[in-house]
Amino acid sequence: MCNQITLNINHSEQYSIHTGYDLRAELFDYLGAQFTTRKSILIVDENVNKLHANYFVDAVNKHFDQVITYVVPEGEHSKSLEHFEKILDLVLESGVDRKTPVLAVGGGVVGDLAGFVAASCLRGLPLIHIPTTLLAMVDSSIGGKTGINHTVGKNLIGAFYQPKAVFADLKFLETLSEQQWIIGLSEVIKYAMIRDASLFDLLDETSFKVSATDYKGWEQIIHRSAHIKVDVVAEDVKEAGIREFLNFGHTFAHVIERVGNYKQYSHGEAVFMGMWAAVYVSQKLGHPINHSNLSTFRPLYTSKLQVSNTPSELTALMLHDKKVSDGVVKLVLVSELEKPFTKLFKDTKLIDEAWAYTLEEFN
Ligand SMILES: NC(=O)c1ccc[n+]([C@@H]2O[C@H](COP(=O)([O-])OP(=O)(O)OC[C@H]3O[C@@H](n4cnc5c(N)ncnc54)[C@H](O)[C@@H]3O)[C@@H](O)[C@H]2O)c1
Repeated sequence: MCNQITLNINHSEQYSIHTGYDLRAELFDYLGAQFTTRKSILIVDENVNKLHANYFVDAVNKHFDQVITYVVPEGEHSKSLEHFEKILDLVLESGVDRKTPVLAVGGGVVGDLAGFVAASCLRGLPLIHIPTTLLAMVDSSIGGKTGINHTVGKNLIGAFYQPKAVFADLKFLETLSEQQWIIGLSEVIKYAMIRDASLFDLLDETSFKVSATDYKGWEQIIHRSAHIKVDVVAEDVKEAGIREFLNFGHTFAHVIERVGNYKQYSHGEAVFMGMWAAVYVSQKLGHPINHSNLSTFRPLYTSKLQVSNTPSELTALMLHDKKVSDGVVKLVLVSELEKPFTKLFKDTKLIDEAWAYTLEEFN
């Protein structure tokens, strides 16, 4: 059995998000109901392919005569023009048509890459996301952002392209590393801070374990988190308004990732530290918010934030963020739990202070 949410993109476009443990039968039925084509394209993460090989035999190979498979080497470097081109070569040379579905199986890397292939190939192939990391289940598989990296920067080539369905199967999470959990956890904490504080209670009661007998807590957390992303995206599909609240903690995080050369701190660690800094700014502006909810998770984030930059240098780096305009830093803050707002800072003294405070906390 699974939970299902429908995301309405506009009057004519909608898709369903299925969450549950072992969705092979649901996926098989869905494919049978939606696709009469004999071919499909499976774009799968290398590690997932090794760890969950039988999954596709049961759910995908059973339905299609030909499964054109491309295994994506694990890691961010695979979100490249090189892999994009190789996949297009394979797909086009295999003779697909506009009805051939693309199944994107993996974390955010495969989701973004395969999503962009689906968006571009023959001007759009049906896309089904099968996210296998916590981050991909609660965040990257929902919302329609697809793309690859360029040597100039991350995610610079891409398109908004919505999938036909998302199958978030918790069975995949059994093999996820603790580091990967923590990356996804930061996004769940973010949703709790900006939209649904009851997620903190659920997180409190749930361990990191997912198994056939112990997955209900995470099923609820993932379902609710996906719902939040769905609600926000449905209100703001092209990211012109409230979707920017999803950047809570991220303007600080982008700088942390950058000064760590995108190696020293994972995205999740950087987002957690970024939320810490954003709460500081919110509190100093006089809002009734403090670090108590974040503190519960603080022991999980063990990296030390040791950088050679001064707080004001870190603030200056924020001005390079692609979401910054006219030299004014815009931050997403919270006036209280579940109440996000944005504020522009011409005077950045308070942001310098937030950096100093965060550097000390994570030292
Ligand atoms: N499109 C969006 O809206 C959006 C949002 C957030 C992030 N992203 C993108 O997502 C990417 C990061 O995604 P990610 O954190 O999922 O990383 P990822 O896709 O690189 O996966 C992380 C690691 O986990 C492994 N893995 C995946 N599933 C596994 C499983 N079930 N068991 C064991 N190992 C597994 C992968 O092989 C990889 O080594 C970034 O490129 C980021 O830009 C996109």
